[in-house]
Amino acid sequence: MSPVSSLRFLLLLLLQTAIAMELRPGYYAETCPRAEAVVREVMKKALIREPRSVASVMRFQFHDCFVNGCDGSLLLDDTPTMVGEKEALSNINSLQSFEVIDEAKDALEKACPGVVSCADVVVVAARDAVALTGGPDWEVKLGRKDSLTANQEDSNDIMPSPRANASSLVDLFAKYNLSVKDLVALSGSHSIGQARCFSVMFRLYNQSGTGRPDPALDPGFRDELYKLCPQGGDENVTGDLDSTPREFDNRYFKDLVAGRGFLNSDQTLFTFPRTRAYVQKFSRDQDEFFRAFVEGMIKMGDLVSDRPGEIRRNCRVVNSRRPVEVLLES
Ligand code: HEM
Ligand SMILES: *[C@@H]1O[C@H](CO)[C@@H](O)[C@H](O)[C@H]1NC(C)=O
Ligand SMILES: *[C@@H]1O[C@H](CO)[C@@H](O)[C@H](O)[C@H]1NC(C)=O
Ligand SMILES: *[C@@H]1O[C@H](CO)[C@@H](O)[C@H](O)[C@H]1NC(C)=O
Ligand SMILES: *[C@@H]1O[C@H](CO)[C@@H](O)[C@H](O)[C@H]1NC(C)=O
Repeated sequence: MSPVSSLRFLLLLLLQTAIAMELRPGYYAETCPRAEAVVREVMKKALIREPRSVASVMRFQFHDCFVNGCDGSLLLDDTPTMVGEKEALSNINSLQSFEVIDEAKDALEKACPGVVSCADVVVVAARDAVALTGGPDWEVKLGRKDSLTANQEDSNDIMPSPRANASSLVDLFAKYNLSVKDLVALSGSHSIGQARCFSVMFRLYNQSGTGRPDPALDPGFRDELYKLCPQGGDENVTGDLDSTPREFDNRYFKDLVAGRGFLNSDQTLFTFPRTRAYVQKFSRDQDEFFRAFVEGMIKMGDLVSDRPGEIRRNCRVVNSRRPVEVLLES
């Protein structure tokens, strides 16, 4: 080997070692001991300013982790040379409150510059959203790296539509080693937040191309939705995902049992035999739901990326690269 190529080999080895990521609780205990406290403070303020924003932020974990691992790729803005994920089918006109992540990251950069990844901020903030709205609180594993790129096509291919049936959702989650129980528990995240009429119109007026509403809809609830989302009306109007949208609780599952799930992808969990038993169980036992939910969130957070990463300074843009790094990544 020439000196240059052996140096390159050595650097690659070092880089590989850095990539073999071990997530663990307390990852920032020495380098940024207040990291989690800083994010929680920002989330508390966000909750007071705009209650829905914490639900919007919680959703980021799902949309980030399912697309090439939890690597903050979701947070990247488009550039002239990269089409990001923010305008992917499931995200455009839908994901919001990215400014809450920016606020947390700015506070972290003041406290400990260049230390805490945006990918970790997403996972901490998701946990906080649940804890601050009455759900369980748990220890998160940290130590993720931020991606150097994003992939809109992958997001389009992967992220499920609100029309999805439970059978296809079970298959999707299985690809990530997430069980039927994980799927149902994680769908319980729709215990907080809202969705647009856009995501429910087909269910009201043309379910599966029948020209009819979804028969699984409770008639009273269907009439409420007709008023909220009249045919030909504004598809940006939003409705609550369950009947207590500011409280993380098991009401979502009780609503499903009553035929009052907002999205088709929600209601189908009760219609479909393989998921129904979990819906029933969680509707009766909130502790059981909370335990299963935490387990699912930790598993989803373990979906790390095996690609090269960095600690971004600004969650919306990759750091500018030095020539040797560009060489190594090529
Ligand atoms: C199981 C498959 C899932 C499907 C098909 C799905 C689909 C959707 C849709 C269509 C919306 C409303 C979008 C809009 O109309 O603008 C939504 C909202 C939401 N989703 Fe999911 N979702 C799923 C799973 C999850 C998971 C696993 C999480 C988090 C762990 C999650 C968290 C949320 C939250 C918190 C909201 C409300 C966001 C807000 O109020 O801004 N979802 N989801
Ligand atoms: C819905 O809102 C988006 C921006 O968030 C806008 O581009 C779109 O035109 C709106 N659609 C309607 C039907 O008003
Ligand atoms: C569920 O959806 C998938 C994909 O859209 C479709 O192929 C399948 O036939 C559906 N299954 C049921 C039971 O409706
Ligand atoms: C799922 O588990 C199998 C077997 O343990 C493993 O080989 C695979 O990489 C896992 N897939 C994901 C997406 O974690
Ligand atoms: C209902 O959906 C079917 C199939 O997607 C489509 O062919 C039909 O035109 C739709 N009907 C209306 C009234 O939108």
